[in-house]
Amino acid sequence: MKFFLDTGNIEEIKRIERLGLVDGVTTNPSLIAKEGRVFKEVIQEICSIVEGPVSAEVIGLKAEDMLKEAYDIAKWAPNVVIKLPMTEDGLYACNELTKNGIKTNVTLIFSAAQGLMAAKAGATFISPFVGRLDDIAVDGMKLIRELRQILDIHGLKSEIIAASIRNIKHVEDAALAGAHIATIPGSLLPSLWKHPLTDSGIERFLKDWETVPKA
Ligand code: E4P
Repeated sequence: MKFFLDTGNIEEIKRIERLGLVDGVTTNPSLIAKEGRVFKEVIQEICSIVEGPVSAEVIGLKAEDMLKEAYDIAKWAPNVVIKLPMTEDGLYACNELTKNGIKTNVTLIFSAAQGLMAAKAGATFISPFVGRLDDIAVDGMKLIRELRQILDIHGLKSEIIAASIRNIKHVEDAALAGAHIATIPGSLLPSLWKHPLTDSGIERFLKDWETVPKA
């Protein structure tokens, strides 16, 4: 499974990237707003640090506005991916961009039918939101399992990005459910390699080492 970072924060990206753990980055307008910087500058900087796909979201709601933004954003860097909302206009824009060889990520997917539509429209990536479904007492991980099955049965090429990831269990379950990618907040990722028994284990080894006679 690939790991994307779900952040617009350059320091977070640099910290995790040096471990070889960043296969790509996803951003959204809320994440970009947190950085207080110009959108284009943030995306170009991320694209220069990370080799893999970097999703940048359009703001327009009409297909013609989405496409205008998309064709501009697509020139910012070779690894930029256009993030589109899961709407009728978004599907149209997805199909157009795909025909023109531009990679897309259809976002805000909350049902298997929506994911199937996005995959049929040629989306490179589809982003079901696990955490936001869990928030309304709907099993978000069930959607990941269903989508993986649908893509496999019908030989559809889109990759599933498990999005709206809130905890370690979400990452583990998304891996088991067959998500191709999990996009993980930069603040959550370090907790994936931490464990209290690892810390106490190191402490005990070092304490015992003190009693070993030194030559
Ligand atoms: C995905 O691409 C989105 O940016 C993100 O995962 C949304 O997560 P949230 O529900 O925590 O805002």
